[in-house]
Amino acid sequence: MKKDRIRTELLIHDLKVPLSVIRATIESLLHRQQTLGPLTPKQEKALLRAQRNIRLSQTLVGDALEIARSTWGFVRFTPLRLSGFVRNSLIEVYDLIDPELSEQISKSGSLGDLTRVLKAKRAILAVEDGDWEKEIRIDLAKTTQIFRNLLTNGLKYRKERLVIGLSVKADGLLLQVSDDGIGIPKAFHEKIFEQYFQLAPEESHLRGHGLGLAGVLALVEDLSGELTLKSDEGAGAQFMVRVPLAQAQDPDRFSENPRAG
Ligand SMILES: Nc1ncnc2c1ncn2[C@@H]1O[C@H](COP(=O)(O)OP(=O)(O)OP(=O)(O)O)[C@@H](O)[C@H]1O
Ligand SMILES: [Mg+2]
Repeated sequence: MKKDRIRTELLIHDLKVPLSVIRATIESLLHRQQTLGPLTPKQEKALLRAQRNIRLSQTLVGDALEIARSTWGFVRFTPLRLSGFVRNSLIEVYDLIDPELSEQISKSGSLGDLTRVLKAKRAILAVEDGDWEKEIRIDLAKTTQIFRNLLTNGLKYRKERLVIGLSVKADGLLLQVSDDGIGIPKAFHEKIFEQYFQLAPEESHLRGHGLGLAGVLALVEDLSGELTLKSDEGAGAQFMVRVPLAQAQDPDRFSENPRAG
């Protein structure tokens, strides 16, 4: 066991407590105004911004721990409905860029409602007939992280619209995220999955860390899934992921080939 690695992971892990305390404090200021005192609209706006960013920090800490855990080959299956998985992933993604939409998504009852809410924001949700309420077993943390990263990129790079496709097949859950943006020249189709590689880092609103897709690929591999990219310069990008579904009798497992070695 590499001691440096566990120290880093422990540090990340220990961030969870102070982050929860900060979030709870912000939320009580927001929601217990009768006891703690009223907020001016400007103070409330500032606290809502802090709340969104603390949630982002918690998501990132969770992601970092999940990647680290995954490196050791651990896979944990959760039974759930496709609808719950999709709704929660969308709420997490939009929470940071469009909190109002995130709120609408959490309130939307049926697939029809959700589709309408998203369409108004130029995102087309296409779910295979009959799959929305299907029960599946997947590694929720890893699959959500994969889906969220592809959605975040699609929303960042689309020109006009984003298409989100989902279906449950015999050989797995298919996730498809397509945008009509700048696209990725064929020469970079492998490079973009390397850590820290970015094609358009100079545009500040697009600036990230160049880590998302490297994480996506690692997690897809850990789940013994498949990732396909169709794209070319100026032609938008389509990322497709297949994640095998666990059968009812499949237990949680350690992979036979952990990357941590
Ligand atoms: N949908 C897309 N359309 C065009 N280019 C993309 C798309 N998705 C990813 N890329 C390119 O691949 C690079 C790597 O993507 P990745 O998600 O790893 O990093 P990032 O989004 O820049 O930052 P991070 O995800 O760490 O916040 C991006 O910087 C971008 O150049
Ligand atoms: Mg990204």
